[in-house]
Amino acid sequence: MINAASIQEVMSRADIVDVLGQFIRLKKRGVNYIANCPFHNEKTPSFNVSPVKGIYKCFGCGKAGNVVTFIQEHEKLSYPEAIHWLADYYKITLVETERTPEQQQQQLASESLRILNEFAANYFLDVLLNTEEGQLVGLSYFKQRGFRKETIEKFRLGFNSEQQDAFYKAALKKGYKTELLEQSGLVKNRNGIVHDVYRGRVIFPIQGMTGRILGFGARLIKNNDKAPKYINSPENELYNKSKVLYGMYQSRQAIGKQDECFLVEGYTDVISLHQGGIENVVSSSGTSLTEDQLRLIGQLTKNLTILYDGDAAGIKAALRGLDMALSQSFNVKLVLLPTGEDPDSYIQKNGATVFHEYVKEHKQDVISFRLQIGLSDAGTDPVKRSKLVNEIAESISRINKAEDFSLQAHYIKEAAQKLNVDETGLVNLTNKFIRERVETENRHNRTQPDVVIPHEEILPINNEPIIETANKEEEQEWQLLRILIEYGHLEYEGAQKVAQLIEERVDPSLIEQPLINKLYTEYYQHFQHFGATPELHYFINYPDSVIRNRLASLLLPEKEISPKWKDRYGIETLSEQMNYINDVNSSLDYFELKKILSMHDKLTQKIKEESDPAKLDLLLREHIKYKQLEREITQRHKPVVYKSNKINR
Ligand code: CTP
Ligand code: MN
Repeated sequence: MINAASIQEVMSRADIVDVLGQFIRLKKRGVNYIANCPFHNEKTPSFNVSPVKGIYKCFGCGKAGNVVTFIQEHEKLSYPEAIHWLADYYKITLVETERTPEQQQQQLASESLRILNEFAANYFLDVLLNTEEGQLVGLSYFKQRGFRKETIEKFRLGFNSEQQDAFYKAALKKGYKTELLEQSGLVKNRNGIVHDVYRGRVIFPIQGMTGRILGFGARLIKNNDKAPKYINSPENELYNKSKVLYGMYQSRQAIGKQDECFLVEGYTDVISLHQGGIENVVSSSGTSLTEDQLRLIGQLTKNLTILYDGDAAGIKAALRGLDMALSQSFNVKLVLLPTGEDPDSYIQKNGATVFHEYVKEHKQDVISFRLQIGLSDAGTDPVKRSKLVNEIAESISRINKAEDFSLQAHYIKEAAQKLNVDETGLVNLTNKFIRERVETENRHNRTQPDVVIPHEEILPINNEPIIETANKEEEQEWQLLRILIEYGHLEYEGAQKVAQLIEERVDPSLIEQPLINKLYTEYYQHFQHFGATPELHYFINYPDSVIRNRLASLLLPEKEISPKWKDRYGIETLSEQMNYINDVNSSLDYFELKKILSMHDKLTQKIKEESDPAKLDLLLREHIKYKQLEREITQRHKPVVYKSNKINR
């Protein structure tokens, strides 16, 4: 267990904009930041970050939380792992209380692969640099390829001996179990003899977005063997190759800064480009791009430039995954290198300046690229040409998002010219493909039965109605909670804290929503117990994700005054800081009025039942008093009264 003071220190140091900025591109929008949501696929940003409140919320998919939950969800880490991540990032030493054997066991099980990979990478680097075989074989191979020492260290490259089980023995000695070693793909059991899988190979650790080593690729040194050129880690709990891009960890910041990502084929291409000073580059490691990989890139930039060999295989590889990128609204460009060159060989020979010039001169957009390849392929054959027209229209039809409309028009014009066909005809053909796709999607959706789920069934099992705000009364209760969470610690007119004032003046039995009532009670329990109001993080970190998301929506409302308002009407966007007194007053009025109305109802009942004229007179006087109070509040705060008039009637 990490001790509470340590967690507190991490929380107070962690800056949400700084941390989230490591993974996504944040743009300032008023007092908040916006970005494309990393948790779902989108083209226009609906992911909001409030640096003041330290929380984020996506209005598209509903994901919300604070800096810890972000690391948890984005990096697929547990809560303590996320705290560790942040502590590492801010160089904070965590104080941990002792673990029980079971906890140790569990920790080992979940993190063991990762820890093993870390050990293995360090081992392979050590063998490369500090053993005779490593230096003679591995290091001289890297030198011959032009890799400098700092490049080797940056990418944590390594080498493993040709011996049968040198690594296996070292790992056993360190206490790693054979079963785990086999799972990682580092060793293999053949007829009862366990041996290293990567023997006499140079090793490329594959790191995730945060630098964790997820797996390895290991390359042969001599190409004469029948053995495969690369052996890569098998898929396991840690390594999922379709979700990883080689070089992402080293490149992510440059990709964001340059607002462009180069995609290359191999490990060595990424490494050589980095060494040459081009750091915005990743590799899909010889496989075609997946949707998950595109999403990773899409968090950093929408400008994707594919750099492949100019040979037939390179072109084929480049064409794969293109439609997907177009559908995800990437601005895709292609650069084919001279035949026989890959980015690695090209930059090693020519350097970064020439490389940049080449890229600039040979950048093509996808449609032009398709056209060029297709036209040279079809020649004058009319059948092939008509097939090409269809293919191009299909490709253009994939760019069917509103924001890309002008791009689509541009492509149609260019394609019509080059294919020597009528522009209107091409427009119609493109539209036909769009319609067809829409119809297919509709048909697909229709196969789902039209069952309307009764509202009760989608509520959580503990039957607290917490989905969305149902009505205005409920909204008022949520607002009371919001005021407590946001302003509870502030002073109310110099005398006491907002939290104390509300405690005095609001009757908790009037809070009808069970969930709000529960959170309200928790708030004051915390207040009593610690003598201080709970921090915002207490609620934003709420263990139940449904409650957490609901609270985040409450604390980060979708509708904020747009920055334009300031210019137009002189209204400050950040009015809430100044306006909390108004908010408090209006919430207090609401609950006071609610109280009066409920007492008024009881009184009316009594008046009906009372027969004694003297007592009736007293009751009627009381009734007038209530009416007066009601009117007072009504006049004090008209909008509140409008909302609450219906209560208990
Ligand atoms: N690859 C693989 N397994 C293979 C061959 C290739 O996983 N048997 C992947 C590797 O990720 C490799 C990429 O495909 O980096 C591109 O292959 P290739 O161009 O053959 O390798 P390079 O990395 O360019 O290696 P080198 O420059 O040393 O030939
Ligand atoms: Mn190569």
